[in-house]
Amino acid sequence: MSAAPQSHAPEPADFRKAMGSFAAGVTVVTTCHDGRLVGTTVSAFSSVSMDPPLVMVCLKRDSRTLAALSQSGTFCVNILAREQGDLAYRFAKSGADDRFALTAVEAGMCGAPLLDGCVTAIECELRDAHDGGDHEILVGRVLRVVTDETKTPLVYVRGAFLNA
Ligand SMILES: Cc1cc2nc3c(=O)[nH]c(=O)nc-3n(C[C@H](O)[C@H](O)[C@H](O)COP(=O)(O)O)c2cc1C
Repeated sequence: MSAAPQSHAPEPADFRKAMGSFAAGVTVVTTCHDGRLVGTTVSAFSSVSMDPPLVMVCLKRDSRTLAALSQSGTFCVNILAREQGDLAYRFAKSGADDRFALTAVEAGMCGAPLLDGCVTAIECELRDAHDGGDHEILVGRVLRVVTDETKTPLVYVRGAFLNA
């Protein structure tokens, strides 16, 4: 870390590289809108508050999942297990309509689907949406959590999955 401090905004590639060095878990954020299951891969996820229990996810403004979730008002954050790297890529594939085809799901208490085999499911109702530049920051109030402590979480860093 000997580089001189930058006084200007980083180039997008440098910013992407810098953020890629922060190891993150991988989730699939799901919702159900007009009877249709919708979801996508999201690593921009964090807890926000313990009391009340709040979490946040960031979704690109042009995300179809964002559009559906904003309408349904509920979502589920499915934290992926180490062996679910393929599923992460399937739910990230641009424009794909068959993301749920190979995955068993269970309807959650708020309608958003829980994906089979995940480490944790966090069911939320949408509480707030904030401007996040080219993303929208969505804050959810947690309604229910389901965790399988026997599973190891998937980790994404520098554009690849660890231990995959
Ligand atoms: C590991 C990984 C993490 C991702 N994290 C995010 C994220 O935090 N927010 C986001 O908007 N897109 C993220 N994406 C990209 C979306 O999954 C991708 O743009 C997807 O096609 C959006 O689908 P939708 O328009 O159907 O919602 C990620 C992709 C991968 C592979």
